[in-house]
Order: sequence, then structure tokens, then C-alpha cells
Amino acid sequence: MSNPSLLILPGDGIGPEVMAQVRRIIDWYGDKRGMRFDVSEDLVGGCAYDKHGTPLHDDTMAKAQEVDAVLLGAVGGPKYDKLDFSVKPERGLLRLRKEMDLYANLRPAQCFDALADFSSLKKDVVAGLDIMIIRELTSGVYFGEPRGIVKEGNERVGINTQRYTESEIARVARSAFEMARKRGNKVCSMEKANVMESGILWRDVVQEIHDAEYPDVELSHMYADAGAMQLTRWPKQFDVIVTDNLFGDLLSDLAAMLTGSLGMLPSASLGAPMANGRPKALYEPVHGSAPDIAGQNKANPIACVLSFAMALRYSFDAGDEADRLEKAVEKVLADGVRTADLLGEEGVTPVSTSEMGDAILAALDAGL
Ligand code: NAD
Ligand code: IPM
Ligand code: MN
Repeated sequence: MSNPSLLILPGDGIGPEVMAQVRRIIDWYGDKRGMRFDVSEDLVGGCAYDKHGTPLHDDTMAKAQEVDAVLLGAVGGPKYDKLDFSVKPERGLLRLRKEMDLYANLRPAQCFDALADFSSLKKDVVAGLDIMIIRELTSGVYFGEPRGIVKEGNERVGINTQRYTESEIARVARSAFEMARKRGNKVCSMEKANVMESGILWRDVVQEIHDAEYPDVELSHMYADAGAMQLTRWPKQFDVIVTDNLFGDLLSDLAAMLTGSLGMLPSASLGAPMANGRPKALYEPVHGSAPDIAGQNKANPIACVLSFAMALRYSFDAGDEADRLEKAVEKVLADGVRTADLLGEEGVTPVSTSEMGDAILAALDAGL
């Protein structure tokens, strides 16, 4: 049988720097665990625009549809701020998500013990935190029509539309209930049913799917603004949170800070199963291209490394190997190895991106 295939899209800014560490880890799995992947690499975002005049070439899109999983670094940067909206780097990422129909975006927020002191919240509030935000990723206000900037009389009007169909809500709700059954068996659904019709439908459909198919899972509903407050007040009350595309974007950045740094949060974007039974999948850190530190070998590669761990778990049915990688990261943090974004303690010198990679590889070796 041929090796599973991976398409790597490092992207812009710190994307290539953090992805370089993941490539070393992929090689480690080949050498030390006999898990070999057919890896190809391509462009997405600003670098694709520079070469092809589009943030995602059709050939790259076609490759992404064929491989077993896509790993992405990050896209965007100030160099591209003035580009026409249709060719901005972010459009490349949105096209991948939409055309691969990656409707369930899993964004776990876990607080490693070694970082519990480092969060901006009190240690009690975050120690032992382990929540999973499931963000709907292919619909809502990100994609709804009509949209655009139009002229009305003497002024311009910016328009975006929040739109959800019943089936779009139902499928992401099922992902959340399935996930909850494997974890703490609790789902909290967040919307704004008090002000938005799409929120009313969201709440109704989530409740219907629950009552018909998952009555064993504990379900609650919360307005998303109150949810943001509760996430900072006492995040450990949550297990799985399911929410729409825009609220999920905001709430997951908020959750990142519970764990210490945006440089820690991985994600998996999953769609329907392919012919081989694997879900369509793209794995990427939650953070962006971090233009303020790009090119300095300073970025924290852990979010990207943990995204590969999610690939092992969700695409390659290798949960044990994912555990192995997550344990290696935990050990490195417990040993006090810190990139600059994780510095709080006096007298600790930060390591570089590649030194963090060295430390994770050493911990993997030590765990054999
Ligand atoms: P950002 O996530 O790039 O950066 C926010 C802050 O977090 C910065 O101070 C940055 O230095 C820090 N940070 C982020 N990742 C880090 C890491 N791994 N290690 C250490 N520090 C890290 O968000 P932004 O500044 O709002 O956006 C910059 C660009 O990235 C924009 O063009 C935006 O559209 C894009 N973006 C892309 C993605 C993606 O590709 N998935 C996600 C978010 C933002
Ligand atoms: C994310 C990012 C993206 C989003 C951008 C870059 C399109 O913020 O993945 O969280 O808004 O979804
Ligand atoms: Mn975001």
C-alpha cells in the first residue's frame, strides 16, 4: 500500500518557520516509528499571489482535494493589505475551507500544567483546563450573500449576510455531540437567538438533533456574549462548545489566552469522509502570520506541531502517536523550555523556533 499523502502549505510570515519544525517531526515519525508520508509542498496566501497573481492556484486547490490531509502554516501580512479583496491572502485559506467543505473546525484549548502560571487569568481558573470549541467553518456571515460594498445615494454601504441552513447547523451539531461522547459528554451551544433569526434556528436545530439522536449528552444553550464572559470567568464549566463561524473565530482567540499564548493553539478542520474513509481534513494553528516577529526565528512552533498531532489522531487513526507527540510537548514545557511568547518567569532565556523544535525532537527520542 502507498504511504498516506500530505500536502504542506507553509504560507506567509512565521508560517514557513513553524512548519519547518513540523517537517522535522514528520521525518522523525518516518525514521523512528516507520510512519512514512508522501509529502508535497505548495504555496498559499501572499506567496502564492506573488508567484501566480492568486492566493490559491487551481492546481493547488486540486491537489488539496486529492491528498489524505493538508497542513497549513499561516497566511497574510502587511505587504498584502492594499490588495484587492478578491486576491487577499486570506481568500486562499477561505477557498480551501469552502471547496473542501470543511464544516467542523475543532479548536481545543488545553492548559498545560507548566503554563498555568503564565495565563493572564488566575492559576485556579485555568489549571487543568481542557475544552474543545467546534466552530462552523463553511457558512454564516463569512460566506452569506448578498455581500459587498455598494453605493446608496451619496454614501457607501458595507454588506455581509449571516445565513445558515438547517442542514449546515445539523451537521456541525452532530460533530459536537459525537465529540462530547468521547470527552465529558457535555455540549454548550452559543449563538445570539435573542437578536438574530439565524440564532433562533441554530438553537432550535441543535436542540432537535440532540433530542432525536443524542439525548444522553448534556446540552445547554448560551448567548455568545455571555459565553465570552463565562469563558473568562470559569472556563472549566465547559467541555464542548459549538458555535457559528464568526463567534467561533472570536471565542477561540479568547480561549487561546486561557492556555497562555496564541502560539499554543492547534486546529483541525474536518469535512465529510472521503472514499478511503478518512475525513477531508486541513490542520493549521489558530494563530496568523505574526508579521511583528516573522523572519526572526522567534515564533512558537507548538501550535503547528500540535496541529500535526491532531492530523495523526483524526486523519491517520494514530491516536497513540498523537499522544506521544503531545507528551513530548508537555515534557519540554515542564522542563522550562520557553519561546519568547511564553516568558513570564524571571531569569529564563527564551529559545528560538528551531531550538524549540530541537527540544521536542529530543523529548520524542527520550520517550522511545
Ligand atoms: P496573529 O495571530 O498573526 O498575531 C497576533 C499576535 O500573536 C502577534 O503579536 C503575534 O506576534 C503573536 N503570535 C501569533 N502566533 C504566534 C506564535 N506562533 N508565536 C509567538 N507569537 C505569536 O494575528 P494578527 O496580527 O491579527 O494577523 C496577522 C496576519 O495573519 C493578518 O494578515 C491576518 O489576516 C492573518 N491571520 C491568518 C490566520 C491563518 O492563516 N489561519 C489566522 C489569523 C490571522
Ligand atoms: C482564523 C483566521 C481566519 C478566519 C482568517 C485569516 C481568514 O482568523 O483561522 O481564525 O477569520 O477564519
Ligand atoms: Mn481567527
